[in-house]
Amino acid sequence: MEYETVLLGEEELFCAAQWISKGEIVAFPTETVYGLGGNALSREAVEKIFAVKGRPSDNPLILHIAKMEMLEPLVEGVSKEAALLMELFWPGPLTLVLPKTKRVPGIVTGGLNTVGVRIPAHELARQLIHLSGNPVAAPSANLSGRPSPTLASHVYADLYGRIPAILDGGPAGFGLESTVVDCTTRPLQLLRPGGITLEALQAVVDIQGDRGIKEGDVPRAPGMKYRHYSPDAQVIVVVGGEIPRTIREVVRQYQKEKKTVGIMACTENLGEYPEGVLLDLGSKEHLETMASRLYGLLRKGDALGLQVILVEGLEERQLGHTIMNRVKKAAGYHIIHS
Ligand code: TXA
Ligand code: MG
Repeated sequence: MEYETVLLGEEELFCAAQWISKGEIVAFPTETVYGLGGNALSREAVEKIFAVKGRPSDNPLILHIAKMEMLEPLVEGVSKEAALLMELFWPGPLTLVLPKTKRVPGIVTGGLNTVGVRIPAHELARQLIHLSGNPVAAPSANLSGRPSPTLASHVYADLYGRIPAILDGGPAGFGLESTVVDCTTRPLQLLRPGGITLEALQAVVDIQGDRGIKEGDVPRAPGMKYRHYSPDAQVIVVVGGEIPRTIREVVRQYQKEKKTVGIMACTENLGEYPEGVLLDLGSKEHLETMASRLYGLLRKGDALGLQVILVEGLEERQLGHTIMNRVKKAAGYHIIHS
């Protein structure tokens, strides 16, 4: 183990910024999930990020900037549509993919000639970037393949000993990663749904939705090809018109095989399940709550030693689209139609 990882409080922000200025990697809170940040313009720092996470080098990182003035040296021009999205949704959970300049090292973008950029809405994140003096490259601060961290303790569990410090800002706000939009195509292309919904984007620009990944597709966001957000338990999503009845049946089958089964359900439906360990995703009237709880509950399932987690499917519109995108990935697209 290389480091004795320390947890820094908000008042120690300056210390976290110093680590980054020195070329080290530090975890920090954003309004989506915790990020694993390093100086985006330093090859060595970026190499460390990939090594710490165990991330494949062809999966590009998002650059985080503190204010608009930091954008110009990084991108080769901003289209009218991209400028409009920045005006409406920055700072916020929206990453825009734009043509990159030579200043952005190829290692950050996995060799692509485009770069993903966002201004986070989290005050502490913006101050950290500002104090460190450079754009901050940051993937989610989980080990590759684990659910993204929404608490400093999640980062600690995954990365203790691998980084010098974690800046603890309490729970990350939204709880799922940012929306990613490719602004280099016409129409624009949604690469990853997030806190800014497809519907919100469609209201202001001409944009094509994500088609999901099919076998044999060349993924447009390289990150989409990897199995993601996975806990140790096998996750299965149940969709359709008979969700509770089907889940009860599947639970019984697994229990016959002596498997420990969990059920991730909305609060309104918890009474439907007399057997299995219940994981309360929150009221179906509050998709924001569901989004913020999802990753923590997947980790809790592991802590409880669950072997199978059955998840109630949601209607795939607005934030339901974003939540289902992550749930399906966690399930490796194991979906039961009821
Ligand atoms: O909310 C977030 O976006 C968090 C916080 C820390 O900001 N970060 C995050 O980073 O989720 P990461 O590395 O886990 O996911 C970045 C996604 C990947 O799917 C990657 O392939 C895609 O964005 N991406 C980044 N740059 C890209 C580019 N130039 N072209 C296409 N996709 C890109
Ligand atoms: Mg990630």
